[in-house]
Amino acid sequence: MSSKKIWQGNSTFILAAAGSAVGLGNIWKFPYMVGSNGGSAFVIIYLICILAIGFPVMVSEILIGKYARKSPINSLKNLSQEFKLNLNWKFLGILGALAGVTILSYYSVFAGMAFSYIFKIFPQGLENPSQYSSEHFFNLSSSPLSLVFWHTIFLFLTSLIIGLGVVKGIGRSVNILMPFLFFFIILVSIYSSYIGDLKRTLIFLFSPDFSVITPQIVISAMGQAFFSLSIGMGAIMAYGAYMPEKQMIGKTVMTIISLDTFVALAAGIAIFPIVFSNPSLEIAAGPGLIFETLPVAFYSLPLGSIFSVIFFILISIAALSSSISLLEPLTAWIEEKGKFNRFSIVFTLGILVWILGLGSIFSFNIWSDLKLFGLTFLELLDYLTNNIMLPLGGFFVSVLIGWKIPKAFIQENLKLNKKLFKLFYFSLKFLAPSSIILIFLYSAF
Ligand code: TRP
Repeated sequence: MSSKKIWQGNSTFILAAAGSAVGLGNIWKFPYMVGSNGGSAFVIIYLICILAIGFPVMVSEILIGKYARKSPINSLKNLSQEFKLNLNWKFLGILGALAGVTILSYYSVFAGMAFSYIFKIFPQGLENPSQYSSEHFFNLSSSPLSLVFWHTIFLFLTSLIIGLGVVKGIGRSVNILMPFLFFFIILVSIYSSYIGDLKRTLIFLFSPDFSVITPQIVISAMGQAFFSLSIGMGAIMAYGAYMPEKQMIGKTVMTIISLDTFVALAAGIAIFPIVFSNPSLEIAAGPGLIFETLPVAFYSLPLGSIFSVIFFILISIAALSSSISLLEPLTAWIEEKGKFNRFSIVFTLGILVWILGLGSIFSFNIWSDLKLFGLTFLELLDYLTNNIMLPLGGFFVSVLIGWKIPKAFIQENLKLNKKLFKLFYFSLKFLAPSSIILIFLYSAF
């Protein structure tokens, strides 16, 4: 194919894709969704979605990117030309690239908040740390100016890394950032399970009560699976373009999925034991779980303030290595047009994303009463992207690879053994698309 640069060695692709996958979705969102959606039943549906839908969709995305070695939009275009398909398949890439910038607009707001908590150390000797924490969170979220400040810093860092290019910027940063992240998450979860209520956490996470399941929980679990694996919008497809020719797709995806799931569960084990150990705290606190509740839990524990700083550094790293993948697909496509240089593209897109992000910032304060279908601007974007756009993207990717591309071509590119290929092909062709549709229908009625 083309002579463009690719990542050297197998580990950079794994770190970049795991960097994309592991993010706020694992450390901030997964624990609070488990907390508010009844615990282990949610976890089990989530894990099923990861294996039955996530695996085949991620493999397909990488296959497309690696084959064409272009931005997702042009890779889809090339693939359709090659196999004489309708050229409209490239709209799948366009939909994805737009979903990416939309997600980034609010992702950056939360990432900015997490970043600000690195510098927030609670003063000693507070009489009522819960009240202090709530007040701090309230002050932060009700001040558009503070939120804009952190949102700007976070988007600037994101744009800087992408501006440096995929090999020098993204590749190098993940090689530095990801080992820290894995080390910190293990450190914090050992600390929590040692010091907090591990037993109650394990029961909460792993002993299922299926009576609590509602259609809303099922669609949220599927949305969360897509979001957490970064699939359905082309982020992993964009990285696939840089995967070394010889690297095995199936095995690599298994590694990425395992790392992502490991970090989500480790985040649960880092957070719940210390929240459970403090009887006045609520695990179903929702999005405020790590911002409002967790600092209170840390406060009462030995070495708590140090671990709190480590924890928020960890989240910021995870968020940064994810956000770069949200902007890469659109950046790569515009760059391929050859008219502008990468830095000017990224910074222009960055400004657009920044403006869109203001809507999410205002959802916390001046626009908090402005609602459409009962949702704020931020909640609406979150619902539309995670629960609709990503699964739809995943559906079309699995239809494209499962139904439109010859089986022999896929077999040849995957090099899985016969049994595994059969299993993979079945989930790609039937299981993944039909589950997505069924879950859509189930939640619509
Ligand atoms: N997976 C990331 C997380 O869990 C978020 C993310 C990065 C993402 N890139 C993506 C989500 C692409 C969907 C699509 O935080």
